Amino acid sequence: MCGVMGYTGPKEAEQLLLDGLFALEYRGYDSAGIAVLDESAHIKMVKRLGKVQMLSDSLKKKPLHGTCGIAHTRWATHGVPSERNAHPFLDCSKRIVVAHNGIIENYADLKTELRAQGHVFTSDTDSEVVTHLVESMYDGSLVSTLRKVCMRLEGAWALVAMCSMEPGTIAVARKGSPLVVAPTPEGAFAASDLTALAPHTSDVIPLTDGQFATLSQDGTVTITTIDGTVVEPEPIHIDWDVSSATLGGYPDFMKKEISEQPQALSRLLASRVASGTVELDELSMDGAALLNINRIYIVACGTSYHAGLYAKKLIERWARIPVEVDVASEMLYDEVLADEHTLCLAITQSGETAETLLCSRKLRRMGAKVIAITNVLGSTVATEADGVIYLQSGPEVSVASTKAYTAMLVASALVALFLAHGRGLMGSGEIAQRLAELERVPAAVAEILDRQGLAKEAASVFEGATSSLFLGRGLNSASAREGALKLKEISYLHAEAYPSGEMKHGPIAVIDKGYPVVFVVPQDDVHAKTLSNMAEVLARGADVVAVASDGDAEVLPYAQHIMWLPPTAEWLTPITSAVYLQLMARYVALSRGCNVDRPRNLAKSVTTE
Ligand code: AGP
Repeated sequence: MCGVMGYTGPKEAEQLLLDGLFALEYRGYDSAGIAVLDESAHIKMVKRLGKVQMLSDSLKKKPLHGTCGIAHTRWATHGVPSERNAHPFLDCSKRIVVAHNGIIENYADLKTELRAQGHVFTSDTDSEVVTHLVESMYDGSLVSTLRKVCMRLEGAWALVAMCSMEPGTIAVARKGSPLVVAPTPEGAFAASDLTALAPHTSDVIPLTDGQFATLSQDGTVTITTIDGTVVEPEPIHIDWDVSSATLGGYPDFMKKEISEQPQALSRLLASRVASGTVELDELSMDGAALLNINRIYIVACGTSYHAGLYAKKLIERWARIPVEVDVASEMLYDEVLADEHTLCLAITQSGETAETLLCSRKLRRMGAKVIAITNVLGSTVATEADGVIYLQSGPEVSVASTKAYTAMLVASALVALFLAHGRGLMGSGEIAQRLAELERVPAAVAEILDRQGLAKEAASVFEGATSSLFLGRGLNSASAREGALKLKEISYLHAEAYPSGEMKHGPIAVIDKGYPVVFVVPQDDVHAKTLSNMAEVLARGADVVAVASDGDAEVLPYAQHIMWLPPTAEWLTPITSAVYLQLMARYVALSRGCNVDRPRNLAKSVTTE
């Protein structure tokens, strides 16, 4: 939600900031703004409603000149998307400017107080109070003032600020919202996410909560704590290919990211599987400690939660450990029964999802060991966890998670196998066999990509529909949920998911002639049961799409469209079926004229509760 960017150095700031905003646009895209300090230390600012391209087009006509600037791309929380509510915000004297990602929870009280002092507000946002607080408390040093200001704030923030009084200096602060900084020979940078900095450096410093930094024109960065103590920076090295964050000839990022799945999954497997064993040093516990785990909590939201549902079934099946999984926004306020025998798996592509972070912190405080499964290097979850399993999918730009989801399923399977082996419940022979099955998945996914015409045909059943149902059983009940979410988020078509067997307990009432129903029905131990459910919806006139195993003649009478799954072990069908459902959702969304990469109202990284 929202992306911030700052640059100071010897180069013109405008284009560097714009490029950064384009890279951060997945975080929010309802309005964007940029402020640059000109030669005479005046702040020049342009804001536009809409995507970063609108801002860029305006700047082409009237460029901003200066070598120090800040910028922002917004996902509205307080105040409608508009130019007036776009960041950054100037103070009353027009000498201080601030951009903010996060939420200032006590903004109403602060606004009343500042108004009483005579400050005039120009927006409906919570963020603008920060600028006026800096103005009101300015002590001659921007970073020192920012420290004092942050003591008065409640909520979450990544703040970037500059002022006319200290040309060439940018002060930043972080609490609860991601922020990385980078000293480089071509200047000093700050951004919400390291992908915005990747073209400039391979070494970035993720700030931790409560840290501040001063970016200087000579390219240096000084990191401090709330009391001004200087902190030794802890840079991380980015080994992602910068080109992986560009379209590279694909029409959209979603298509690109769906297509990258064979390579992404192979990369993950290559890093974790060697000589028929699973290498997960993150879980390094001796046999006794592994035996002592008596409960696992899986903490996640959205698509990552669906991966958690799959993980639960595999871990319980193979490692015989009870697993609790719920969306983090619920678990956060539930009574959880964690202690030092609890393992918490925090699954999050971005590593920044507010509830996932808050909930894993809660479990950690109770004694649980936290293992993060994430895609983003140096993300908050990664810095806080006891161990990290990186998905290694490369940047996922499209808001709809695709390649990270299938990687989460693979990572979950690896964790389940590791635990089963460590607890003596699965011998080396069986582990090697399961891993061999897993290693065949990238090829199966590649085959599905070759058959994507099937997904395009299946997408036609949604023509004219206003709602749809996704059904699956066993391991694939999670697949049905994920298929429905994918369709909903990018096509805006209502889709509901249920375990197939639950359909007759209510949802069947919505089925009528031509109503689209998608079944995930591979040849597994619940296959016959699902076929019965298919017969039930067909009898009521539904248009049925099936995701079924190659050569399964039994499914033919029950579906108008079938997306055929290449052969894999039954427990791997959630991975392959996910790819068809992603492709189908994309085709439906395109046929409805939707922007598949930037669906309305959504943001890639949801950093507020
Ligand atoms: C996925 O397509 C969605 N955009 C969304 O549900 C997402 O999975 C959720 O917000 C959690 O994000 P995370 O994995 O970054 O924590």
